[in-house]
Amino acid sequence: MSRILATYNIKGGVGKTSAAVNLAYLAARDGARTLLWDLDPQGASTYLFRVKAKVKGGGRKLVRGKSEVDALIKGTDHERLDLLPADFSYRHMDLALDSTKRPTRRLARVLAPLADEYDYVFLDCPPSISLVSESVFEASDALLVPLIPATLSSRTLEQLARVLARDADNAPQLLAFFSMVDGRKRLHKDVMERLSREHEWVLSTVIPAASDIERMGVHRTVVPEFAPRGAAARAYEELWSEVGERLG
Ligand SMILES: Nc1ncnc2c1ncn2[C@@H]1O[C@H](COP(=O)(O)OP(=O)(O)OP(=O)(O)O)[C@@H](O)[C@H]1O
Ligand SMILES: [Mg+2]
Repeated sequence: MSRILATYNIKGGVGKTSAAVNLAYLAARDGARTLLWDLDPQGASTYLFRVKAKVKGGGRKLVRGKSEVDALIKGTDHERLDLLPADFSYRHMDLALDSTKRPTRRLARVLAPLADEYDYVFLDCPPSISLVSESVFEASDALLVPLIPATLSSRTLEQLARVLARDADNAPQLLAFFSMVDGRKRLHKDVMERLSREHEWVLSTVIPAASDIERMGVHRTVVPEFAPRGAAARAYEELWSEVGERLG
């Protein structure tokens, strides 16, 4: 059985894609057969892995179970790491899901045939709370939630925790981590301290605001490939090992 991990936040631009691509790379580097599904029509992780953002038949056919998912998967430049690319039609995925019988089951269904092929499946989610997100929650074992330590991001996190608590038995494990952290900012320190104290699902690894992470788009690859000894690469390695411990 593969473990399904989604990088998710209602908010945009918080570091979901950066975490997804780096953690998926590290999982594969550690020897795990890994797939990343880029669910965002913007296709940022598809771009970073140098794959064309195109899914034959589009998102609708895929979520309706009418596409052979195996045939849509692309290899990446990295051993053991595959990609199910983004497609521009994913912008209508909500509508496509809504026209199916059990919309929130669909993504799990799409992934079911791959359960023996991959140890980890990462879902890089678009920023929203929608039918797509509900389907992601139902498919996932854990949600990896990047948080920028400002007061409003903690509010969205608490909202998310409440949404998940409504169906606690089936809810994915919530694992939040701080992202784009500026250690010199008093506000960042205060919010991180408070949230870590109040919620056991806040991880201790912090992803700093780092130019190496911004530069991924220039290099079109993951941080450990072009800056392996930098603080950002170390932070993602630490994050991956902490996530592994939490997953048990
Ligand atoms: N720790 C960081 N330090 C500096 N820049 C970062 C960091 N994390 C992400 N960025 C930059 O911020 C931008 C948004 O990051 P990213 O694409 O990972 O966020 P996202 O949550 O996936 O965004 P979206 O909601 O649009 O999908 C990118 O340009 C990325 O390079
Ligand atoms: Mg993204």
